Amino acid sequence: MSNIKVSTEDNVGIIQLDRPEAANALSRQVVGEIVEQLEAFDQKDSVRAIIIKGNKKAFAAGADIDEMMDDSPLSLELADPFAVWDRITLINKPIIAAVSGFALGGGFELALHCDLIVASEDAKFGFPEITLGVMPGAGGTQLLTKAIGKAKTLEWIWLGKPRSAQEALEHGAINRVVAPELVEEETMRLAHQVADQAPVAVRLIKEAVNEAVDTPLIEGSKLERKNFYLTFATEDQKEGMQAFTEKRKPSFKGE
Ligand code: CAA
Repeated sequence: MSNIKVSTEDNVGIIQLDRPEAANALSRQVVGEIVEQLEAFDQKDSVRAIIIKGNKKAFAAGADIDEMMDDSPLSLELADPFAVWDRITLINKPIIAAVSGFALGGGFELALHCDLIVASEDAKFGFPEITLGVMPGAGGTQLLTKAIGKAKTLEWIWLGKPRSAQEALEHGAINRVVAPELVEEETMRLAHQVADQAPVAVRLIKEAVNEAVDTPLIEGSKLERKNFYLTFATEDQKEGMQAFTEKRKPSFKGE
């Protein structure tokens, strides 16, 4: 059963996350479906820009905690579940995120993998991984640092507290904030504006701008993944995720 809805409007391809019962949590299957569809749109001549969106409550509430809570460093290292995210960085066409509601953990990382982000006034951007005893593992430490710098990134990720769309805009993490009822319309307008430019130039500009960043994202992401997998060697990871499913506050011991 698919967890995304796919459509096109003129020359814009649209991927809508469709797992409302789990706040669009990004199970491995969902991420696989998103990546495959991005690649399909990238190959399709009639599509010139791509939008990723969620629903009113959540763009996406992060990686699926239920799915990973019993993982070990070894199971993660062997399956390398976040490696598939690297394929998003290879998409040539412009990708725009339309964010309403929660963009947390992997959800924020998915938005940051997009080239532009349009957010609703009620959107919340955050990395709550630290409250689970772990850390971002799908590019968050790399992408946010490259977008807004080290100091703001460390505070955002260490404290784990989500920030409003307005704060995210002031930090330079996103492109624009609009009223909730205008998010889809504004994102589509922006997508059409980009899609109507010369496609080869748009593609080459994306490649050149990405090249401007020092460490190749793929290298930084490899280190980040290794560290994420290592957090599964701790009791705090087990406690953090157990506490989430039991809907209580975690008690961390530093082991
Ligand atoms: N994984 C699995 N299930 C999730 C989920 C997640 N990340 N986020 C939400 N859900 C589920 C909830 O368990 C709940 O299911 P039930 O109805 O079966 O209990 C359902 O979605 C609705 O969520 P809530 O009842 O919690 O709704 P809420 O409005 O009270 O809160 C929320 C919404 C603030 C998003 C809250 O659900 C939440 O904090 N979610 C977890 C966010 C999080 O920690 N994300 C990081 C995950 S780790 C990660 O992403 C690593 C990485 O780098 C890739």
